[in-house]
Amino acid sequence: MLRSLLRSRPPRSSSRAETELAFRLPTRTIVGPGSLKQLGTVLGDYEAGTALVVTDPGLGKTDLPRRVCGFIETAGFRPWVLDEVKPNPRVADVDAMAAQVRGHAVQVVVAVGGGSVLDAAKGVALLLTNPGSIRDYEGRNQFHTPAAPVVAIPTTCGTGSEVTWVSVLTDSRQRRKISVKGDGLFPEWAIVDSDVLISLPADLVAATGMDAMTHAIEAFIGRASNPVSDELAISAVTLLLEHLGAAAADIGANAAARDAVMRASTIAGMSFGNADVGPVHCLSESIGGRHDLPHGLLNAVLLLPVLEYYGDDVETRLSELGSRCGRPDLRMAIRKLTVQLGLPAFGRLGIDVQDFEAIARAAEANGSNSSAPRPMTSQDYFDLLNQLGGGA
Ligand SMILES: [Fe+2]
Repeated sequence: MLRSLLRSRPPRSSSRAETELAFRLPTRTIVGPGSLKQLGTVLGDYEAGTALVVTDPGLGKTDLPRRVCGFIETAGFRPWVLDEVKPNPRVADVDAMAAQVRGHAVQVVVAVGGGSVLDAAKGVALLLTNPGSIRDYEGRNQFHTPAAPVVAIPTTCGTGSEVTWVSVLTDSRQRRKISVKGDGLFPEWAIVDSDVLISLPADLVAATGMDAMTHAIEAFIGRASNPVSDELAISAVTLLLEHLGAAAADIGANAAARDAVMRASTIAGMSFGNADVGPVHCLSESIGGRHDLPHGLLNAVLLLPVLEYYGDDVETRLSELGSRCGRPDLRMAIRKLTVQLGLPAFGRLGIDVQDFEAIARAAEANGSNSSAPRPMTSQDYFDLLNQLGGGA
């Protein structure tokens, strides 16, 4: 029954294997305020020993890692904290963290943070069971041994990485982002507790929430969508249109909005984890490989210009998505939300026009370009960037 449902729509790309369009989600996911306290029960799945906690220096100064370590100790594990993940984590950072922990018996990796932390932790988990550098595993299923088990605890409302098979890292030698993907890279567990968002700054709520919006929209309008990823995308976009503005205005006081955007982020992750992202991410990852700018902010700023650039090419699917979300003019709804959130224009990001050519080439080479509604050429990306203008 499920199989026939998933096959009811023919593949849109003859080059894409039909099996790739089958929806799959092996991560066991617990969603709800207060769910962090279930970490101890989750760890009962594993043989007691060392639990490697991966987080970042900012979170390391908060109460959250201490609470996580408390649950770990109560479950009979020894926590080992690495709190050195930087934004836009680099290949070299992941290799260095792996070098510290390889050879030690680590039973499980507990990742506590935003997308940077989750992606870095997934990379470290892969290098606990595979030799070499994380760079060696760029692409799809380029490793034989599954990563060490990961329990992912997201602390922003955007990444979705807690339920996907991908780790996106910066190769600073080549000034580009690399994607490491594989069936053995899905976290085994995701604990999605909206209470951890209580003190998230408003600009991060806005930028990461718009990253989630971009995940859902790109999943829906892209060539790799399927009926299940579509329904998840509709749910995520509906929640974000309804609640992201209120969440950004006062996430600490508005529990309903906080819970809605957190749920939307994970649901959008489930959608794009199966249907892929598209040209907004191709461009944002290309820019992010050369400029140390937040991933969520780049997507937030690029989403509407890309949708406008596509024009009639995405009209049918965008209208379908908007209608299902109760906003038939989806572009207008996103424009209003963007203004409400106070997001800057692309030109304010300070990206030198001299970089546009290299950015456009890398965007075309991004593996997700083939999932776009209409794959864009480097000339398309270059033209779009010039329309947006530089800010050197
Ligand atoms: Fe993203």
